[in-house]
Amino acid sequence: MRKKLVAGNWKMNGLSSSLEEVMAMTTTADRLDCDLVVIPPFTLIERACTASKGSKLLIGGQNCHAQKSGAFTGDVSADMLLDAGAKFVILGHSERRTEHGETDALVSAKAATAIQSGLVAIICVGETQDERDANQTLAVIERQLAGSVPDTATSANTVVAYEPVWAIGTGRVPTVAQIAEVHLAIHAALKKRFGDDGGSVSVLYGGSVKPSNAQSIFAIEYVDGALVGGASLKASDFSAIAEALNA
Ligand code: PGA
Repeated sequence: MRKKLVAGNWKMNGLSSSLEEVMAMTTTADRLDCDLVVIPPFTLIERACTASKGSKLLIGGQNCHAQKSGAFTGDVSADMLLDAGAKFVILGHSERRTEHGETDALVSAKAATAIQSGLVAIICVGETQDERDANQTLAVIERQLAGSVPDTATSANTVVAYEPVWAIGTGRVPTVAQIAEVHLAIHAALKKRFGDDGGSVSVLYGGSVKPSNAQSIFAIEYVDGALVGGASLKASDFSAIAEALNA
């Protein structure tokens, strides 16, 4: 069974005052069957965990280092995320791939370390507009999956997020057919590589998910939830998206 979940990536947004939103999200998390994960900046992880204590709301981090510890100024390790109370970590987000030059090999190394530490890795893949225009979408996704998902991945420790780069923060969403095609391809590739358990890995869609389009996206086969950016900052919008998955 593929687990259903909605994860909210706050990116570089959120101050102490945003903890009110976390509190409001706990009510939604407790009401729903699907998992709800809030992924604030590092500085809020521990306080978000305290604010959501006793509820079903889960907390994650937005990145971690590939090494367990050491002389890496400014970096955060998987063990530190766990220690702060996080259960998930986003890896390979296109903003990290583009702005920090993260390669598939690095994402895979980070994911292997995160998994070994006991975190669930949310590994992101997605094509650029140019790659889609050149009919390279499935080839890019398959290459990123093969390179970014480590051999130790299982349905319990890994989630894959399909995030077309051109749909992130733009308000542009792929058609139902485009999402369906990629999600089926991801599901099939994971099954081929990892057997039946690979077929149980949850695959999220991400890129301009909003309360108004969530229901139609969640109706697509092999879409097991969403990775939400902008619309996850407000508890009301994020909750409405989670409600659509739960329906
Ligand atoms: P968006 O971001 O929902 O704001 O498009 C999604 C993401 O980057 O994970």
